[in-house]
Amino acid sequence: MIRACVIGWPVEHSRSPLIHRYWLEQYGIDGAYEKEAVRPEDFAAFVNALAEHGYAGANVTLPHKEAALRLARTADEAAIAIGAANTLWLDADGSLHASNTDAYGFMTNLDTESPQWNEGLGAAMVLGAGGAARAVLYGLIEATDAKIFLANRTQKRAEELAHVFGPRVEVIGWEKRDEALATCGLLVNTTSLGMTGQAPLDIDLAALPQDAAVADIVYNPLLTPLLVAAAKRGNATVDGLGMLLHQAVPGFERWFGVRPEVTPALRAHVVASLEGG
Ligand code: ATR
Repeated sequence: MIRACVIGWPVEHSRSPLIHRYWLEQYGIDGAYEKEAVRPEDFAAFVNALAEHGYAGANVTLPHKEAALRLARTADEAAIAIGAANTLWLDADGSLHASNTDAYGFMTNLDTESPQWNEGLGAAMVLGAGGAARAVLYGLIEATDAKIFLANRTQKRAEELAHVFGPRVEVIGWEKRDEALATCGLLVNTTSLGMTGQAPLDIDLAALPQDAAVADIVYNPLLTPLLVAAAKRGNATVDGLGMLLHQAVPGFERWFGVRPEVTPALRAHVVASLEGG
């Protein structure tokens, strides 16, 4: 039996087991996917003994993503550029390899849900400067030639990201976010605002072109106040759940040997768990 897990602290909230166990059953694979709550101070020892724990690989979530990258023997280009890894696997020699599939997940979902997002795109606006923003910026820079505006409440964090990702990223003051939408064909929220229990994202979409797409990485609730406001004025919307589903694909394929499909049935399965809290 092949076993994988998600390592986090806390890990209880992780939806990854729901996704991977669904696929294991769907494809009739003799495998298991567990949750491992591992404290930051124990993370290196746990990962260095992944095989002894019986695992072929793992997903890594907060707060371990940066440490996961440091511990791996090799890392793919996305993990290096993003500075964090969310997917680990052991090769036949027992060496640890790392990937970051968040950008893949975000971009695949955007391509699927709003296939025209990149047509004639002059500029995009990304809000937020945390780990999720890094993945989104990396994905957008790879996929489009458009200018990318970056706005964050704490401007210094945005400037640090612009420094990492180069001149394609232009920092906009947080208070200028509304007016800067005028030339944007894509708006992405990577902040935690709009999530259940958090304030809604404070933004006025009036200047945003009608044909722009609006994506949120928040998936609980599925329809954030931002997406509701965007849909109301006719913008195409992309919710955050698809990113979560698609980022799981490469890891599952790596560990279990089958490239799984993101289907409406899988989506409904995860949506049901969100509704149940
Ligand atoms: P993650 O790594 O998951 O993206 P994070 O590093 O905590 O998480 O980042 C959360 C993002 O939401 C940040 O961009 C944060 O802005 P700051 O860098 O100024 O903290 C943003 N955010 C959280 N609460 C906010 C609020 N009330 N108003 C504006 N931005 C907020």
